[in-house]
Amino acid sequence: MSKYIANENRYEKMKYNKVGNSGLKLPAVSLGFWHNFGDNDKYSTMEEMCFTAFDNGITHFDLANNYGPAGGSAEKNFGRIFKEHFKPYRDEMIISTKAGYLMWAGPYGDGGSRKYLTASLNQSLERMGLDYVDIFYHHRMTPETPLEETMCALDQIVKSGKALYAGLSNYDGPTLEKATAILSELKTPFIINQNRYNILDRTIENNGLKATSTKLEKGIICFSPLAQGLLTDRYLNNIPEDSRIKKDGRFLKEKNVTENREVLLKLNDIAAARNQTLAEMALAWILKDSDITSVLVGASRPSQILANIKALENTTFTKAELDAIDKLTVRG
Ligand SMILES: NC(=O)c1ccc[n+]([C@@H]2O[C@H](COP(=O)([O-])OP(=O)(O)OC[C@H]3O[C@@H](n4cnc5c(N)ncnc54)[C@H](OP(=O)(O)O)[C@@H]3O)[C@@H](O)[C@H]2O)c1
Repeated sequence: MSKYIANENRYEKMKYNKVGNSGLKLPAVSLGFWHNFGDNDKYSTMEEMCFTAFDNGITHFDLANNYGPAGGSAEKNFGRIFKEHFKPYRDEMIISTKAGYLMWAGPYGDGGSRKYLTASLNQSLERMGLDYVDIFYHHRMTPETPLEETMCALDQIVKSGKALYAGLSNYDGPTLEKATAILSELKTPFIINQNRYNILDRTIENNGLKATSTKLEKGIICFSPLAQGLLTDRYLNNIPEDSRIKKDGRFLKEKNVTENREVLLKLNDIAAARNQTLAEMALAWILKDSDITSVLVGASRPSQILANIKALENTTFTKAELDAIDKLTVRG
């Protein structure tokens, strides 16, 4: 029997935003399992992070088939945590997973085919010990697969009851528009886009995703809102031994710090003048925008989750602050 009993005040402080024009709401801050939930990580820390998140109103946990390492291990670890502690709370949770990147060898373990998406979701459900996920995403655009095939696979998956809603990740504006036309015709509950968006990465402002999503009344959940830790106090002075760069530098490298440190220090000054940490300001900067549903943060310890929720205390910016941030970070 689990010793975990969820905090009875868990819904008091969190803000919940409607996902586009759907009936679903997501917490303004959601928790992702890309890093720190793999086979090399400590199980008790994973448990504590899930408890802290849920106790503070973070009802949304985001996974993908390939999160680890090894691929699949984050879902497996989450499945254990779910079975041991969260089963009584299933109806209070939004659990998502994805398929689209390489997961297994051969022609059926990557991309956007109906074969891959269907098989992968079956595997994910088994690893997590769930009957269904709340949101199932196609993880990336795959131009080699006919868009209609991928969208019909998402439609079938939702209508089979293995996912309640469909999502698209890493799509651009024009492809989102075409995909939405197919899904609307099928009456598929496609409600959300998951894309990278942060002070340092404005891609969705430039590739049409943000404007198109808003026009189509879809939600946007922003991944890597802290630029994997760059937009925090983690790297302002040095590169700590227990940081992502030192522990698992597959995607974040020392050169990313070197290239950005001067800007990060200046952003930190702007945050300090607002009485915020750099992390709080970075999340608040995204959440000021009504086009955005949620910031999808990662964490290596429970205290970071608590620190990130503090961003909700001030998401208002003056024009002078926004201009100063843009001057430092918008290129071209
Ligand atoms: N759809 C996609 O293609 C895609 C791609 C990437 C990610 N995602 C999703 O987005 C989620 C978040 O991505 P991410 O982990 O890159 O997000 P992030 O929030 O930008 O970075 C998380 C990292 O920042 C550091 N951090 C977090 N809060 C902090 C705080 N308050 N103070 C100091 N440092 C702090 C931690 O680094 P340390 O480990 O150094 O402590 C943490 O691991 C993923 O888990 C996944 O669910 C989706």
